[in-house]
Amino acid sequence: MNIPQHVAIIMDGNGRWAKKQNKPRSYGHFVGTDNVRNIALKANELGVKVLTLYAFSTENWKRPKEEIDYLMSLPAVFFDKFLKELMEKNIRIETIGDLSALPIKTINVIHKAIEKTKNNNGLTLVFALNYGGRNDIVQAVNEIIKNGSITSITEQDITNNISTKNYPDVDLMIRTSLDYRISNFLLWQISYTEFIFTDCYWPDFNGDMFLKAIEEYSNRQRRFGGLL
Ligand code: IPE
Ligand code: IPE
Ligand code: MG
Repeated sequence: MNIPQHVAIIMDGNGRWAKKQNKPRSYGHFVGTDNVRNIALKANELGVKVLTLYAFSTENWKRPKEEIDYLMSLPAVFFDKFLKELMEKNIRIETIGDLSALPIKTINVIHKAIEKTKNNNGLTLVFALNYGGRNDIVQAVNEIIKNGSITSITEQDITNNISTKNYPDVDLMIRTSLDYRISNFLLWQISYTEFIFTDCYWPDFNGDMFLKAIEEYSNRQRRFGGLL
């Protein structure tokens, strides 16, 4: 099987999953957070190098304060439960997005996890938090300007200054819950990404389904504009 080096997932449908069983949206987020562990372990087992998970977009600030507050409390819940296991499995935690807008408690919890796992060399598990694809490109351009090159820039300049500069391009992007859109996730990074949309809500998306997605990816022909 041809294992993708970098998989990105838009973890969507927590709210609809909860609604289906007459539970509050927060319950969907809670179970969805537990599911991050399952998919990260599966990705690690399969030899995926980078798994980038869309956890909170720059547009998600439009949601009710109560829901935002709950979402911001989840990193602590997740790392309390699973950091030990992630360490044992040699998984490294990183983030993309502007963390500075998050509550200080949330930032501290995340920084601790990053610091603790920084020498692990299995899967790199990247949480996209307060992340927007357009913002990412603008941030990269600003970085280039700051470094003095303002007359003309190349594609490579953007690639070298964007948040994912240390990762390979995204090979496969999965979106759960049957919405067929990118919702401002990685934009620069998906020029030749393969897409899989599934009707499964994120809390129900399990390791077997992840494996199936990898198998489907593995059977696709990527031409990158050329001929085979
Ligand atoms: C994804 O689930 C989690 C976040 C966006 C934080 P949603 O909360 O978007 O769930 P739906 O799309 O309303 O079902
Ligand atoms: C995308 O889901 C963001 C995350 C999964 C974090 P949304 O639920 O915010 O996307 P839209 O609003 O349906 O496009
Ligand atoms: Mg949604």
